[in-house]
Amino acid sequence: MAMTQAARDLKRAGRDVISLSAGEPDFETPEHIRAAGISAINAGYTRYTPVDGLPALKSAISRRFMADHGLAYKENEITIAPGGKAIIYNAFRATLNPGDEVIIPTPYWVSYPDIVRLCGGTPVIPQTNADARFLLSAEKLDAAITPATKWLVLNSPCNPTGEMYTEENLRALATVLQQHPNVMVLTDDIYEKITFDGRISKTIAGVAGEMKERTLTMNGVSKAYAMTGWRIGYAGGPAPLVKAMAKIMMQSTSNPCTISQYATIAALDGDHSFLTGWNKIYSKRRDFVVQSLNASPLLHCATPSGAFYVFFDCRGALGKTSLSGTYLASDIEFATSLLNEALVAIVPGSAFGAPGFCRLSYAASDELLSQACERILAFCDSLSG
Ligand SMILES: Cc1ncc(COP(=O)(O)O)c(C=O)c1O
Repeated sequence: MAMTQAARDLKRAGRDVISLSAGEPDFETPEHIRAAGISAINAGYTRYTPVDGLPALKSAISRRFMADHGLAYKENEITIAPGGKAIIYNAFRATLNPGDEVIIPTPYWVSYPDIVRLCGGTPVIPQTNADARFLLSAEKLDAAITPATKWLVLNSPCNPTGEMYTEENLRALATVLQQHPNVMVLTDDIYEKITFDGRISKTIAGVAGEMKERTLTMNGVSKAYAMTGWRIGYAGGPAPLVKAMAKIMMQSTSNPCTISQYATIAALDGDHSFLTGWNKIYSKRRDFVVQSLNASPLLHCATPSGAFYVFFDCRGALGKTSLSGTYLASDIEFATSLLNEALVAIVPGSAFGAPGFCRLSYAASDELLSQACERILAFCDSLSG
């Protein structure tokens, strides 16, 4: 958000900045979903709903979980909130006591550790590495668990890496968790519909049935349906947890936007064929960006299977000096100088707990991506030392 703001400030000052720092699709919400929102307004669905969501939307969510993962959640096992972020907040707010630990593997979405801290818990951050596609191994999970561990957070496809856990990866993690029956899992599957190369996103409760009773399977409409502004997130999980999360909402947000809930029924139950087209566009952009960045001898970019980010290694550029005389000591100076001197906004990996890397969002037009890659390559070519 700081990089997006810095980019905005430069833009306001009249500079031609290309911003690839934000995490939202550049597509419009599909027409049939917008129409459902308008119909809801015209039908007078503009009042409060039950605090954690409409029964009709819970039914639609239940159908989705069953169709996508063979997961059976009843109405009292489903919760709906104003965004995926609110689901995560409600879950941690409802369960964490001071001293409770939450395992959050690197690189992580920036909000997880901050929400944990806000709720009085302690983030425990196992490092992963690029060679293992930044996925948490069973060994690293085992080493991170203590008697104080309350939650493990998984995110697949991952923001910022775009990498995905396979069924085998998830089963290996579940095997470790069998030895630790008090540890719950929050799996953030918000990018699950954005996958490429024939890959299908799997979720831990779906592949290891014994984990379902202590897993919160979180999802939302922001990314898959290009609905970031509608603010709807949801989850399936154990009934007592879902009930405790509703109590948090009762004294904070109340119900998520009624109109958005009706639009979400149309999103979840409606035609999904547009996703094939969008994913084709995303994967073409991904291939272009990966190929372009790898043309610089200073950068290395792996090819991820999902989401709309690449997480590239910029360590080859560190220790060098930019044209304006900035010494690039870390990914933070790399990203800051790239913004100030080449007018491209990306996010330094340090923000995600993974220094030496940067996240670039390719949810942008081909033309912008082409210009941005040209600028990044020219910036790298201009470095000295
Ligand atoms: C990994 C991850 N989880 C959750 C969210 C939150 O999404 P929402 O807009 O539904 O709050 C985001 C948004 O950037 C995200 O990247």
